[in-house]
This record gives sequence, structure tokens and C-alpha cells, in this order.
Amino acid sequence: MRRVKNTVQEEIQWLRREIKRHDHLYYILDQPEISDAEYDVLFRRLQQLEADYPELCTPDSPTQRVGAPLAGRFVTVTHSLPMLSLNNAFDEAEIRDFDRRVRQEVKQSEIAYVVEPKLDGLSVELIYRDGLFVQGATRGDGINGEDITANLRTIKSIPLHLHKLHGKTPPLIEVRGEVYIDRADFDRINEQRQQDGMSLFANPRNFAAGSLRQLDPKVTASRRLKIFCYDIGHVEGLTVETQYDLLRILSHLGLRVNQLYRICRGIDAAISFYRQLERERDDLPYETDGVVIKVNDFIYRRVLGAVSRSPRWAVAAKFAAEEGITSVKDIRVRVGRTGVLTPIAILEPVRIRGVEISHATLHNEDEVRRKDIRIGDRVVVQRAGDVIPKIIRPLVDHRSGTEQLFTMPTQCPSCNEVITRTAGEAAHRCNNISCPARIKESISHFVSKGGLDIDGFGFRLIEQLVNRGIVNKVSDIFYLTQKRLSELERMGEKSATKLITAIESSKRIPFSRFLFALGIPFVGEHAAETLAGHFRDLSHFLTATEEELCQVSGIGPHTAAGIVSYIQIPANRKVIDELLAAGVSIARKQQQTGGLVGKRFVFTGTLQTMTRAEATARVKGVGGRMSSSVRIDTDYIVVGESPGAKYQQAIDLEITLLTEADFIALMTEHE
Ligand code: IVH
Repeated sequence: MRRVKNTVQEEIQWLRREIKRHDHLYYILDQPEISDAEYDVLFRRLQQLEADYPELCTPDSPTQRVGAPLAGRFVTVTHSLPMLSLNNAFDEAEIRDFDRRVRQEVKQSEIAYVVEPKLDGLSVELIYRDGLFVQGATRGDGINGEDITANLRTIKSIPLHLHKLHGKTPPLIEVRGEVYIDRADFDRINEQRQQDGMSLFANPRNFAAGSLRQLDPKVTASRRLKIFCYDIGHVEGLTVETQYDLLRILSHLGLRVNQLYRICRGIDAAISFYRQLERERDDLPYETDGVVIKVNDFIYRRVLGAVSRSPRWAVAAKFAAEEGITSVKDIRVRVGRTGVLTPIAILEPVRIRGVEISHATLHNEDEVRRKDIRIGDRVVVQRAGDVIPKIIRPLVDHRSGTEQLFTMPTQCPSCNEVITRTAGEAAHRCNNISCPARIKESISHFVSKGGLDIDGFGFRLIEQLVNRGIVNKVSDIFYLTQKRLSELERMGEKSATKLITAIESSKRIPFSRFLFALGIPFVGEHAAETLAGHFRDLSHFLTATEEELCQVSGIGPHTAAGIVSYIQIPANRKVIDELLAAGVSIARKQQQTGGLVGKRFVFTGTLQTMTRAEATARVKGVGGRMSSSVRIDTDYIVVGESPGAKYQQAIDLEITLLTEADFIALMTEHE
């Protein structure tokens, strides 16, 4: 990013052009070229210059606008109250500055804040008239959004009817929230797209935006989107005086609210909660890029008001960057268990948020070309939660001219087989099923956590076993002896014994894990569970037709075709026979090992979409237990309409509150 800037005016003009270009790439094309952090740097520089030289600030500057331009494919709706954006604070000092300004303005020595996780998705407005979901829109430019009602209706956590509040339904409520996707779902969908040779989504935010702007709601419906609600626009028949009450009211109405919010008295408490969430962010199922700190009391909010695009009563406190800059030492090729070749960038190790990153996947040759990543390049690397590290882009300005282009090898680096690429597919493949690299990867997948889950069976060990010819196929691992193992490097007698015991006890395995372990194309843990639930036993599964598979809910035509082609290949049937002959036995009924086994549920109030008996059946179906009263060991309380005293007891005991929508989502996740 080189630029000539002779005068402040020129720099301002350059910044505006760049920001507008990046806005277009981000909001309209869903193809950002720079990270949010880099964008923030540009934006803040422009804000700073305009503050220093107010005479140069013009109304058409991007700093004077509420948000992003429209894509123009959907009907435009005007928000009755603008949907604002937030100012950012990048460190503790900036958070304290925000607090100081608030205290000065409202003339108080201490402020109560509500602190909420900030999710990076797409913000939307949902309009409920007489309790009915009548319209939903994107934020758009903050004033006008796009009508995406049909798409929003496909999101299961958006209720189509609201619960009553104290026996009444507010005539109008405009609810605001963030539509997002869980990390695991995002990874799964991208993985699938990679196998299908499709382009990948850059990040969960772009995924959510792209999915909501689909012209066909069926596509949106297949995308596993979720919502968290956190704000309101115009309301009638309801008075809300604090953010804390607002979140509880939204929950009571049956809307999905992130329960990780906290009321904090004073900025110190808010900062300490911000730090806590920053430490715990990787444990959350979704990505968060910070917290939003909001003045709790609406009276103060009215005093504080808003300046151009952002309210003065809230701030987005960002977490430390997830990006680093390093060099690409080499690009090597990994041969996966299905024979697909994946280029991997070997990086000069770099620490990002305390974790050392030394390699990043480049997905396929087209991706390397598209991003124009060369050996020797300086690159921006991103680590987001447990998502595999990736290279965002090369720093082209740093090139010396000695960088080398990457090309896919023409022969398999492991077995020398000629590499092929099917027309229309992004993937290059090694088609040799006895390729040692493929065997190693198959075994690694077979013993992995989602499969046989054999402790201590790491990749180093697998490499030794395959290289020495001790193991040539998956079933061979069941014939390993302690003597054989203790001959290997770094394998003492004790660890050998431990490993043999682990292998022995892995032989009895739930059907779903067995299906996953086989490594059938497109069958990940989730699909394996669905298939096991439907077919119940192996012989039934092995005779399934494509038609029958397509009818299983959650199994798409692509997966169905992948399964049928797998079960029709005699070599794959042989693998299964060999495993059974080696003593692997499948637990016929799926064992109850889900996260809700033994969890205690209490219900209060009336449910809208099911009877108590149905709810009880669902709890029992996932291995949970019902209790009639709230106790210290209650895990969840499901709050229906007009809840009783149990509700307050649950709050006092800090028991997880679930709305009916939360409950349904939780059940669906574990069924
Ligand atoms: S409150 C005027 N709360 O962040 C305040 N926003 O950068 C309105 N966001 O447009 C927003 N989580 O898309 C609020 N708990 C949360 C949020 C949140 C994510 C998004 C929202 C907003 C953007 C501002």
C-alpha cells in the first residue's frame, strides 16, 4: 500500500477512496481484501485527520455515513429508527476514555454497564406486530435496509410468534440482533465446499451475509444460521428502562438472547469481564471479536445521544488482533486420505494470541493463484479460534523479485503416481489407493477423536508403523503386539502396554463413530450421527440406495451419492469385513454419550409450541432428567409464558435460563 501524500488534503482523499473501495468489497461483493483491523486503521486515521482539520470534513465522507451501501437486489425498507454502528476501543485506556466521557456527561461518579459478547455476523431488524413476525431487514446503510423476511423466516431461532409478557402482547416491537454461524458449522460447510471444488467463504461474517442475501430462501435454510437479539428499535405498549431489563424481556418474549451478558457496576468490573471473555473466547462455539459495553440506564442514554454514526452510550471493546505477519518458507503438498492434494504453506513460526503458528492450509492450486501467494512472500496470517490458520494475503509491496510461484506436482510426492485433475473440480488427486500417504491419513482419521478415539496413536507413530511395513491397512492396528510396538523409537514398554489396552477397548464402538471412522466421502461427525440414527445397523446401511439416503433429513444429494459410490466399491467392503474380522464390534443402539446425559431440567410457565409431555419426552430422549422444583443441581430452567416463582429461584441460583426457542435449539442439537 504505497502512496504519495503531499498534503493532508491528498491523504484524506486517498483514505476516502480506499475506504469506499473496501466498503464495496466487504458489503457488496463479500470479498474483503484487507482485515477488519487494517480497515479500522484507515478509518481511524481519516477520523483523526477530519477532527484535526474540520474544514476538510465533507458530508460525503465515509465517516459521516451510518453504514454500508445496499446491494440493490431486495426491496428497500426504511428503518423507523436508524440502526447505528459502534465506536471501537482497542485497549483498556480507550475503554476508560469512554467511561470518563460518559461520567462527565451524565454527572455521575460511577456508571452501571451491561457487557455483552460482540458477535461478528450480520445485524438485522425483526418487526413483530401483535406478536407476529411480519418483516425482517438487513441493517443496510443504517437508514435503509433490505427486506429479507423470507430468508429470516428460515432461521429456526427466530420465533414466528412471540410469547406473551404478563399475559399481554406488545402491539409493535422492532427487535435487533446479529445473525451468525457457529464455528464448527462454518468449518464443516467450507470443508464440504472444498471437497466439492467450490470457492470458500472468507469468514463466518461473510458467510452469514452471503447466506441472508440469497434470492432463494431454501439456500438460506440449509445454512445453519442462528441469531442473538440485543436491542430494540421502535416499540409500542412496552416501556423498557434499562438494558438489563431489555435482555430479560427479549428472553421472555421467546427471542434468543446470548446469556453471557453481565451487569457491571463501574468500568473496572466491565473491564474485568471483558478480560474474562477474552480468555474464554476460544471455548465459545462462535467467534467473537470483542464485547459491547453499554450504559445500562436508558435515562442516561437519552442524555448522551449519538454522534453521526454511533451512540455515545456504548462502545465496542475489541479483543487483541488475531493476525500476524510472517514469511512463507516453502509450500509443500499434503496427500489426504481420499487422495486430494492440499498445498500447505510452511511459515516462519509466528505467535498469534499465544499460539505458535508454523503452517497454514492453502486449500488448492486455484486458491494459491487467486491470492497470489508465492514462496518467500511476507504474508498476513490469521488465527481465529480453533479454525485452521490461514493466509489472508501477501504483502506485495515487500516483494524483492526472488519469490517463487507454486505449481502442483505432476507426480504424487509420496508414491510417484501420476496426479490427475477432473475437469470442473478444484482438486488434484492421487488415485493410488495403496499410496503410503493416503494410508497414513486414513489410519490417522480412523483413530481420531470422532472415530475410534485411541489415545496415544499419534501421527509420528503411524508414520513409523507404515514406513516399516508393520501396518499396511487400518485393520492391521488390531494385530499389533506389545513386543512389536516396544521395538519402535520413543516407545517404552509402559506406553506400549497402555496403547495395546487402548486399542483393545476401542474395539466396541457406537455405530455413528464407526461410520465416521471409515472416512466415507462427505460423511463427517454430524452426518455419521444422522445416518446411525436412521439406519441403526450396518447391514441396513450397506444396502441403502441413493433415493433412500436422500430422504434422510440432513443428508443432501451430494452426500448420498458419495455414500453409494463408497459402499459399491468392493475394496471398501473388504475394509469393513476386515475390521469386523479383527474384532471390532458395533454397539447396535447408539450409546447415550451426548452432552445432556444426566442433566436436570425444570420447566416453568406455559410452552407455546409443544405440551409439557412432549417436552419431557424430548429431554428424556437426549438422556436428560426432569425435576419439578429448582435446586442447586438444576442445570437448565426452561421459561415459558407467565412463569412462576421457580423463575426467580433460578435467577437467584444463577441457573442457565432457556427460552422455548433456546430449548428447542438445544434439543435439536443433541437429538
Ligand atoms: S448494539 C447502537 N450489541 O456490532 C448499538 N451490537 O459495530 C447497536 N454487534 O451494528 C448495536 N454484537 O451488528 C450491539 N451485543 C451487541 C452486538 C452488536 C454484535 C454488532 C452490530 C452492530 C455492530 C457495531
